[in-house]
Amino acid sequence: MRVGVLTGGGDCPGLNAVIRAVVRKGEQSYGHEFVGFLDGWRGPLERRTMPLDVEHCRGILPRGGTILGSSRTNPYKVEDGPARVKENMAALGVDALVAIGGEDTLGVAHKLSGEGVAVVGVPKTIDNDLSGTEVTFGFHTAVQIVVDAIDRLHTTAESHDRVLVCEVMGRHAGWIATYAGIAGGAAEVLVPEVPFDIDHVCADLTRRHEKGRFASIVVVAEGAKPKEGTMVLSSGEVDAFGHVRLGGIGQVLAEEIEKRTGFETRVTVLGHIQRGGTPTAFDRVLATRFGVAAIDAIHARDFGTMVALRAGAIIRVPLAEGVDVLKTVDPELLEVAELFHG
Ligand code: F6P
Repeated sequence: MRVGVLTGGGDCPGLNAVIRAVVRKGEQSYGHEFVGFLDGWRGPLERRTMPLDVEHCRGILPRGGTILGSSRTNPYKVEDGPARVKENMAALGVDALVAIGGEDTLGVAHKLSGEGVAVVGVPKTIDNDLSGTEVTFGFHTAVQIVVDAIDRLHTTAESHDRVLVCEVMGRHAGWIATYAGIAGGAAEVLVPEVPFDIDHVCADLTRRHEKGRFASIVVVAEGAKPKEGTMVLSSGEVDAFGHVRLGGIGQVLAEEIEKRTGFETRVTVLGHIQRGGTPTAFDRVLATRFGVAAIDAIHARDFGTMVALRAGAIIRVPLAEGVDVLKTVDPELLEVAELFHG
C-alpha cells in the first residue's frame, strides 16, 4: 500500500513521534510505502509532498513540531477542495491517509471518509479536548511546561507579595488550566466551562492576602469568560475554521484584580511556549503507541476510525466519536481545583 501522512492544525509535541512510529511499523512489518503531505490538508489539496521513509525519520523522536509542517487549511472551505484532494491522492497513487490532528483536521478526515476516502485519524492537541480518547498526546507536555512556569512564578510572586496571573491555552476547554493549576498550587483556576465571578475571585484573593504575605497565582484559560460577559478582549480576527483569535483575558483580569483589591498584579501569557519543544516521555510513548495503532488500522483497512486511549489500552473508535462533541473538563476535577481557591 502507498500511505500518505499529514499533520494539521496547531502543532504539538509528539507529532514527529507519531510519524516515526507509523513509518517504522508500516515499512518494517507491512512493507508499505509512504508519502509525506506537507502543511496539513494543504498537502493533498495542492499536491505538496516530501519523501517519507525510515531514513527521513531518524532523530525526530525528541523533536517538537512536525517535519511535515502544519496548517489550518480546510479543503471544505476551498472550491472543489474535497474533489482536488481525491484527484491528487489518485494521481500520486496514495491508497490511504493517516491524518494526525485535532477537532478540525479530524473533522475534515471524518467528512472525507464519508465520501469514500480511506483515512485513519490520530488525536492530537495540547488542549486535550477531543472526545473518544481519555487523553491526546501533547497535553502532558503542555501541562508540564505550565507547571514549570508556575513554580517559577511562585518565587517571584512571594518576593514581591504580588498576584501573578498566568494565561494558558484552552479556548473551549480548561484542561491545561485545571491540571496545571492543581499541580502548581494555584490560588484560582478559571476555565471556559464555568464563567467566573470577579467578585468571588477578588474576595478569595483578599482573604488570602489578609492572612499575611501570601503571593497568589491565578491560572486563567484563554477562553475563560467573566459572568458579566464584559471583560474578554479579542481582535475579532478569524482563521480558516472561523475561530476567533483569542488573547487578552489575562491582561484584563490582572488590571481588574489590581483595581478591585489594591494588590500589585502582573500577568504572564505563556502562549505558544506551551506548544513548543521536546515532548515528555509520557507523550513520546503515547504518540508512538498511537502511530503503531494507526498503521495497524490502515493495514487492516479499518478506515473512518481514530485511534484512542481508554483505560490504558489503545483502541479504535469511529472518527465521529472524536469530533462530534468537545470534551470539556470533568466537574469533579474542577471541584478539586476549587478546594484550593483563596
Ligand atoms: O488548538 C490548539 C491551540 O494551541 C489552542 O489552544 C489555541 O487557542 C490555538 O491553538 C492557537 O492557535 P494559533 O497557533 O493558530 O494561534
